[in-house]
Order: sequence, then C-alpha cells, then structure tokens
Amino acid sequence: MDPTILPAACSTIAVIFLTMIIIKIIARKFAFSARERASRQPPVAGGAFLLGALPTLLSKGLQPILHDLHTELGSVFTISIFGLKKVTFLVGPEVTAHFFQAPHSEICQPDMYKFTVPIFGKGVLLDADFATSNKQIRLARDALKREELKNYIEPMVREVKDYFAKWGQDGIVDLKHELGQVLMLIAARCLLGKEVRENMFSEVSALLHALFENGAQLITLLCPYLPIPSHQRRDEARAKLGKIFHEIVKSHKISGQVEDDVLQKIIDSKCMENGRSMNENEITGILIAMLFAGQHTSSSASSWMGACLLSHEQFLAAAIEEQKKLIGLHGEHIDENILMEMVNLQCCIKEAIRMHSPSALIIRHVKKNFIVQTREGCYYEIPKGQTVVTSVAVGNKLPHIYKDPHIYDPYRFGPGREEDKVGGKFAYTSFGGGRHACPGEYYAFLQIKVIWCFLLRNFEFKMISPFPQEEFDKFLPGPKGKMMVSYKKRLLLAST
Ligand code: HEM
Repeated sequence: MDPTILPAACSTIAVIFLTMIIIKIIARKFAFSARERASRQPPVAGGAFLLGALPTLLSKGLQPILHDLHTELGSVFTISIFGLKKVTFLVGPEVTAHFFQAPHSEICQPDMYKFTVPIFGKGVLLDADFATSNKQIRLARDALKREELKNYIEPMVREVKDYFAKWGQDGIVDLKHELGQVLMLIAARCLLGKEVRENMFSEVSALLHALFENGAQLITLLCPYLPIPSHQRRDEARAKLGKIFHEIVKSHKISGQVEDDVLQKIIDSKCMENGRSMNENEITGILIAMLFAGQHTSSSASSWMGACLLSHEQFLAAAIEEQKKLIGLHGEHIDENILMEMVNLQCCIKEAIRMHSPSALIIRHVKKNFIVQTREGCYYEIPKGQTVVTSVAVGNKLPHIYKDPHIYDPYRFGPGREEDKVGGKFAYTSFGGGRHACPGEYYAFLQIKVIWCFLLRNFEFKMISPFPQEEFDKFLPGPKGKMMVSYKKRLLLAST
C-alpha cells in the first residue's frame, strides 16, 4: 500500500469532520436567531380581565381563572397587574423544562420565598449564600434518600399501630385531623428524634403549629416583618424551638449518644465548608424546613387520598383486594419490599395527588431572558426580571397527557398506561422537578402507604361529610373543613 494514502485519508476525514461541526454551529446560530426574531411576548391578560375575574378570584380562588386563561391563551401567558407587575405562567411539559432545570444564574427562587427566613432562621436556605444553602439542601436530600429510609419503616408502622389502637370498635372521626396527628408522630420519631418523640412531643408540635400557622399567611408573603401579633407569635415560637433544639443537639454531641433518625444524620454530617458539621442554628433550620415542606403536604395528600378512595367503590374494592392478597402472602408483616408490592395503593395515592396537588403553584424569578416553544410551534421570549409561575393544578390536568383528566382514575399510572411517563419529563409536577425537585417524595409515599394499608386492613369506612372542596385561599391548599367519616373495626384476614 502507498504509505502516503493513510495520512491523506486521515486528514481528509478530519477536514470533513471539522467542516461538519462548523456547518452545524453556524446552522444552529442562524436557526436560533431566526427563532429569536420570530419569538414574541406571550399573550397578556390585563386590567379589564382582572376586574372581570375578581368575583371568581374571591369565591373560587386563582385556579379556575388560570384554567380558563390556559384554555383561551395557551400554555404561555402573562397576567399584567395593572401594568405594575407582570407574571408569566408556563403550563405543561413542553414549556417548563427550562423553568425547572435552568442554572441558578438564569432562574432562581423568588424574593417572595423569603417569607421563610423568619420561620427557618437566619443563615438557613434562602438567607444563606448560594453555596451554603446548596450544601444545606444537599444534606436534606442525602438524609431522605431511599437507602437511608429503610430503617424508618418499622418505627412508622409502630407509630401507626399505636395511634389507631386508641380508636374504639366503631365511631365517627375527623379523618383529616387524625391523619395530621399520626403524621406528626411519625415525623417526631423519624426526623426529630427519640428525645422529642418521647419527652416533648406535645410542646414541640404545638410550637411548630404556632410557627407555621402564624408564619405562612398571605400577608406574610408580602411583608414578612410587619409588626403584627401573628408575626410576634411566629417569632416567639421560633425562638423557643431554637432553644429546645440547641439543647438536644448539644446533649447529643456531649453524650456521644447515637440514634437512627434524620437529626442524627444531620448532626454527624460534615458536609459544610472545610468539612465542618452544621451548627445548632442550621440544624434547627433544616429540620424546620423539612417539616414545613413535608407535614402539611403529606397531611393534605393522605386526606385527599382518603376522600377519593372512599368515594370510588371500584377502586376501594381493588385496594382492599390487594391488601388481602399481600396478607395471604406475607401475613401482617410490612417492610419495604411489601410496600413496593402495593402497586395499586401507590397509584391511588399518586392519582389523588395529581388531582389535588398540595403545592398548586411553583414560582421562580428570571435572571436571564429565555425562549420557550409551545406544542403548537410558537416561540415566546420571557424577559429578565419577570416572575414566572407554573400551575401544577392546571398542568396535572392537561387532556393531551391525561385521559379524562377530571376523573379519579388511579389505573392511568398502572402498567400499560403510565400516562405521566408517556407525557414526558415534567408531565407530573406535584413534587416539582429539576433542580428543586422534592427530596421528600419517597418518604411521603412510604408514610402514606404505611398509614393507608393499615387503615384498609383494619377498618371499614364511610364518608359522612360531602366530598371536600379545595382550600383556595391558601398557598399550600388542602381539603377544606373537616372530613367526617364513620369507621368500624374489621380484620381483613378474618373476612377472607
Ligand atoms: C405529598 C407530599 C409532598 C408534596 C406534594 C411535596 C411537594 C413539593 C414540591 C412541589 C416541591 C418543589 C417546590 C419548588 O420547586 O419551589 C418540594 C420541595 C421540597 N420538599 Fe416536598 N413535598 C411533599 C413532601 C415532602 C416531605 C415529606 C419532605 C421532607 C421530609 C419534603 C421536603 C421538601 C424540601 C426540603 C423541598 C425543597 C427542595 C429544594 O428547594 O431544593 N417534601 N416539595
């Protein structure tokens, strides 16, 4: 073979390869600028619209208005509040990828979330610099990883058994209240630790209740430091909690006592700068942040799950049948593998959370202009400085993703359908997505499954209250009012 052929062939291939890369870059640049030229501002709903929508806003809240605007204007639209402030809504997986995934330098959490600073404390999350808050949240993520949660199932089951052992043979209860109570006991045991659970549960849960009730009102979102009585109650509760956790952490450190809970994992971690552990203030703040993000949401989700299941005979019967089968196979024992076998129950919970998402809106601040493309092929430019919001409630009911989206149908998530997966990333956003995706999703499903499998195995229920309305006036909406149910004790195994 001619010895010059090989080098010549190699250089020809290299030239062709380089030319292709250059053409691709130029083509992309042109395509992007063509897109940029074609992009325009999203359609705007302005002052006249807002005045017309006021009665609906006051009587039914924001969601029906967003639903109508989405139907009328499409998946990207702006609400202009009398020209003073513009808020752009992005709805559906086609237009929310950047919203969820963009780096902090392009999209960040809004100033409005700073209402959490007096709740979590100074130097924690939104009050910390970006690198520190990232480390703090990473620690929460690590502590809530699936492999870390295995050991919590047994204490969860114990808390649930002990709590419902207090019910009589039959009776009438506010199920929403009962679920909130048992979830708080689980949180005390698994997150806050033995000391709180065994010695100061009532005190700590009353303080947390006061902190969240007084610190997350609509007025607080706008003016978190307004000197009003509820803010004073918030600050007093936070100060008392700070003292309690300071003592607990100090005594853990001094005694060298080791427990298996999230508090211990946080104390032990040396994830902060220069390998230091979190200080007492940070530990208290992170625990409060987890409870703030996880308690009300889990309590709403498990209540909605009850309301949906108890009002759909067919799915209730199938969920009970699944429990009978599992009891037949494993007896009463519950562990992670058995919980994973509860596919039907998992779908029933997921569907309740799709229809009644405890976080209806996710909000961000735009730091760098970006362009979105809708399903219909329109390009819209979202400018720097604007507030962007995704409505989880509207996004979770898009008819091109979910068949009959207003009907409770857990099987949509079952084998062969999996409508959320078919719909693509960000088709199901009840737990957010991307950079700030909920780290507590697995934990939330575990505890709701532990509670509901126990209830289905041990009680027969009947809803007494009508199907609940949504709390439309809350930032984290749940079912409105009490959820009265009657119950009768039963043993599933005995009835098979
Ligand atoms: C059904 C129950 C739950 C729902 C529906 C839910 C929903 C969400 C959503 C939508 C977000 C994203 C917020 C955003 O992007 O701005 C989020 C974030 C978060 N959730 Fe959950 N959550 C639940 C349970 C929990 C639990 C049990 C915990 C902890 C034990 C938890 C801890 C957190 C934390 C720490 C964040 C902040 C993550 C970050 O900013 O990077 N959540 N959750």
